[in-house]
Amino acid sequence: MLAAGKSILKKAYDSGYAVGAFNINNLEVLKAVVSAADELNAPIFVQATAGAIKYAGIEELAAMVRASAKKSKIPIALHLDHGPDLNHVRLCIEHGFTSVMLDGSHLPFAKNVSITKSAARIAHARKVCVEGELGRLKGVEEHVKSSRHVFTEPAEAKKFVALTKVDSLAVAIGTSHGAYKFRGKPKLEIKRLKEINSLLQMPLVLHGASSVPKELVSKADRYGAAIKGANGVPDSELRKAVRNGIAKVNQDTDLRIALVAAVRKFLKENPKEYDPRNILAPAMLSIKEVVKKRIKVLGSEGRA
Ligand code: G3H
Ligand code: 13P
Ligand code: ZN
Repeated sequence: MLAAGKSILKKAYDSGYAVGAFNINNLEVLKAVVSAADELNAPIFVQATAGAIKYAGIEELAAMVRASAKKSKIPIALHLDHGPDLNHVRLCIEHGFTSVMLDGSHLPFAKNVSITKSAARIAHARKVCVEGELGRLKGVEEHVKSSRHVFTEPAEAKKFVALTKVDSLAVAIGTSHGAYKFRGKPKLEIKRLKEINSLLQMPLVLHGASSVPKELVSKADRYGAAIKGANGVPDSELRKAVRNGIAKVNQDTDLRIALVAAVRKFLKENPKEYDPRNILAPAMLSIKEVVKKRIKVLGSEGRA
């Protein structure tokens, strides 16, 4: 069932687990994600970026998530990921999204506050919850590019939440988007997270949280990809983050790599195949496995 983002997050935060937030662009990824969560009886966020909306179409995207959620028994929040402006916030709310993010993390503090506050006002009037972001993740997002981490300052985070009235906050504690996350040992700033959590006492969000499984990277490379050296956030670090206030964990890269590895393998082994349904079937299975593993690590299995 389609559910309010706020209640899913509150329950997760209060009970000490996190919900997986999975990016989707198309029907295949959506079906794989929902069937994994359904099988494990886990609440989830299904999220789309402005790029995903441009690719799939807002009507198509919202309609397929609504249809899928209607058939399923688990609570599913439909969320705007990295909303770049207020128009996207309005558009998504009009199309039934139950949660939105306004990403002003690239802006100076005062500007981030003012745009996020407006997003919260628009969303709360329609009982939709709002995620803001403070601090900057290294790497490239839709409209945000940063060559270095700008970690979230706990005192500033407290001020940001009080001024904007966001329902959850994405924090920068050492993760980054994409497939190359750490140069040395993968490690998150847990001490900083603890401080933020003790000051804020509200659901926190971890972006750039893919684990980039080694076996998927080598499978992709074995069949012609070139992503050697890709690495992600270890499960042990994710568990620590969840123990310290992270209630929503975003992943997209893992799903992308799972899809690419499976499609490459299938096409290599079946050169005569040209039916997309057959080509995408193993990709859906592989994505489903990735999602199931992630749900178990986050502790949201059986929490629907
Ligand atoms: O930050 C979220 C995604 O991994 C980037 O997705 O290519 O749809 O903007 P996008
Ligand atoms: P990954 O690139 O680690 O999958 O992060 C995705 C994300 O944060 C979406 O908002
Ligand atoms: Zn993100």
